[in-house]
Amino acid sequence: MTSSGHRDSIRSQFNAGASKRIEAVYLTPDVVKQREHAIQRLAPQSGEHVLDIGCGPGLTTLALGAAVGPDGLVHAVDISEPMLALARNRCANQPQVHFEHQDVTLLPHADGAFDIALATQVYEYLPDVDQALRELRRVVRPGGRVLLVDTDWESAVWASRDDARMRQVLETWNQHIPWPQLPRQLQQRLLRAGFTDVEVEVMPLLNTRFDRQTYSVGMLEVIGAFVRGRGECTAQMVEDWQADVCSMDEHTGYFFSLNRYLFSARATGRL
Ligand SMILES: C[S@@+](CC[C@H](N)C(=O)[O-])C[C@H]1O[C@@H](n2cnc3c(N)ncnc32)[C@H](O)[C@@H]1O
Repeated sequence: MTSSGHRDSIRSQFNAGASKRIEAVYLTPDVVKQREHAIQRLAPQSGEHVLDIGCGPGLTTLALGAAVGPDGLVHAVDISEPMLALARNRCANQPQVHFEHQDVTLLPHADGAFDIALATQVYEYLPDVDQALRELRRVVRPGGRVLLVDTDWESAVWASRDDARMRQVLETWNQHIPWPQLPRQLQQRLLRAGFTDVEVEVMPLLNTRFDRQTYSVGMLEVIGAFVRGRGECTAQMVEDWQADVCSMDEHTGYFFSLNRYLFSARATGRL
């Protein structure tokens, strides 16, 4: 994907309507729990300087702002204006938080500017992951901590009455990012980019009953909006797929499982 192709894709995937839908999914207890775990793992301290890469609706940014407090600093970067609008609004009472409309593949910050940096569900969207990781290494001080979260969409298990249709939808959904299986390569890429002490954790999302306040039921809308009209995914097919999944409790049972992976690492070099 070219960089202008990437920008167009991000513009349509994170327009105003889609950004609100994603914000709602990220407010479900499933994702709240994962976000809390990621922040706990990163352990931001009062007074630290933090970079939130691809901040989206600013849910993580808000928690980081609270953790570093008024003596700290959070820079939050995103390429989507609608996402930045949600994030600015959410963090309006935190003067220690600053937002930048910026492509994270080329960061405007000085070398070693940050004690910590995180990117949750962002690198899988980037055509040039290695360039973005080199930029990440450049702006984090030697010994600084980084945390990345990405999904392997091949780990998706989603019960349906029509497995061929489910496969078709998920294969088409894979086109929403250049790297739908990024986690399996990320450890090597982090080491190559100048990070050390890489630790990997799996964070499963598991929904075993139909509930609108879950990640997977929220994603029925997000995925439906992306795949509709692409390849064999006609509007009717997507509607039938959604109706089928929504009524699985009346058949063999609702079941969804997906793995996200959390990577933590340290920037190499002398402190
Ligand atoms: C799935 S959302 C995740 C948002 C947020 N990190 C979270 O977990 O709540 C991905 C975000 O990455 C941003 N993004 C994708 N490519 C980007 C790029 N090249 N530069 C900056 N932001 C980017 C999108 O605009 C979107 O807000």
